[in-house]
Amino acid sequence: MTAQPDLAVAPLPPLPHWESTPADLPSAIRVVKAALRARIEASGRTVEEVFAVVEQRVRARVEEIAAARGRGETIWPIIEYADIAAGTVSPEALAKLRQRGCLVVRGHFDRQQALDWDRDIVDYVESNRFFETYRGPGDDFFGSVGSKPEIYPIYWSSAQMQARQSDRMARVQAFLNSQWKHESDGVRWFDPDRDSLYPDRIRRRPPGADSNGLGTHLDPGTLDLWMTEAYQRAFRHLFDGTVEEYDPWDAAHRTAGPQYPGSTMCSAFRTFQGWTALSDMDNDQGVLHTVPIPEAMAYLMLRPLLPDVPEDDMCGVTVNQVFPVSERWHPLLLEALSGIPDVRAGDSVWWHCDMIHSVAPVRDQQGWGNVMYIPAAPWCPRNERYSAAVRDAFRTGSSPTDFPAEHYERSWSNRFQADDLNSTGRRGLGLD
Ligand SMILES: [Fe+2]
Repeated sequence: MTAQPDLAVAPLPPLPHWESTPADLPSAIRVVKAALRARIEASGRTVEEVFAVVEQRVRARVEEIAAARGRGETIWPIIEYADIAAGTVSPEALAKLRQRGCLVVRGHFDRQQALDWDRDIVDYVESNRFFETYRGPGDDFFGSVGSKPEIYPIYWSSAQMQARQSDRMARVQAFLNSQWKHESDGVRWFDPDRDSLYPDRIRRRPPGADSNGLGTHLDPGTLDLWMTEAYQRAFRHLFDGTVEEYDPWDAAHRTAGPQYPGSTMCSAFRTFQGWTALSDMDNDQGVLHTVPIPEAMAYLMLRPLLPDVPEDDMCGVTVNQVFPVSERWHPLLLEALSGIPDVRAGDSVWWHCDMIHSVAPVRDQQGWGNVMYIPAAPWCPRNERYSAAVRDAFRTGSSPTDFPAEHYERSWSNRFQADDLNSTGRRGLGLD
């Protein structure tokens, strides 16, 4: 008697995918939604059942955060830089970091060092008559800030490069990268100990400023999150009936695939987004907020498949705009929105790349609100690809290709020079 094949699992239906932006977006959305639903249902579960699992998991986190807030606890985890450097971060602190997916690193840099960097940046832009020649915002994402810049499209100051290539930055980035599962199925998805030096801008918001802030949104992608083959694999557990196995810390299939171009895109894979404070900031002065629940990504990915969402709509997600998170579609998630605690110059702030975030509005801001954006973007095929463009921008003082083509620094002779790179900087740029 031969073995019966009755235990064999029927193959799941394949998913259509688009490796570049589909020409007809509403039609592609209809097609991919139908295919994702069919795939989930082929596993023997309904979309509603799968979504309910995620909703329950997220709801438990939302309630836990509300309870912690009720007890007067700080929602954002805080870890001292000295503990990261000495390898003495407690298991409890690590668990909280993984649970909340965001972190304040206290004393990442000496406070005076950070204040000196802030002053150096002012000297750098003033010596090049930046304020006299500023042409206004180069993109519409931060377009509400008016004629005096709040976001400086400056990438190559000594201060920024010193921070990016510093040992202290490399240690924290390696620590954060190592929270992710970076090897599986015989593939090393990224190198946790090598950063790819992702150049980004500076924010300097002066005392007295009024700012509308930024609404709740997500940065890792838009429709490509559902439509490219790599992301469909990265989020495989959400669509194949094994939703319980979805792990927001698994980097598999996330570090080589394409992204749909857009005015607010990030070509790099970042384990965490981050910034380093260049001024002291109180928690009620228009600061960063997150929904500190890494699993919320599963909710965002599955929510458009429920029947109350129009067939050609992904809960408002489309290309060339940030991924919106709204009261209309995601009220449960927004209940957990939590701001950073007070930070001091030299502290750094980090949040998981899939994490919902916003910047609160402020009127008549007290004190400065100055940060330099430096993420953790470990070396991987996607970041290696982008590093060619970064090297070119570095050599010529240009704006990196992920950002508006403003190029203020091309003629600024006192920008950071190749001779000033250390080994971390050279490795980060792919020069060694
Ligand atoms: Fe963002």
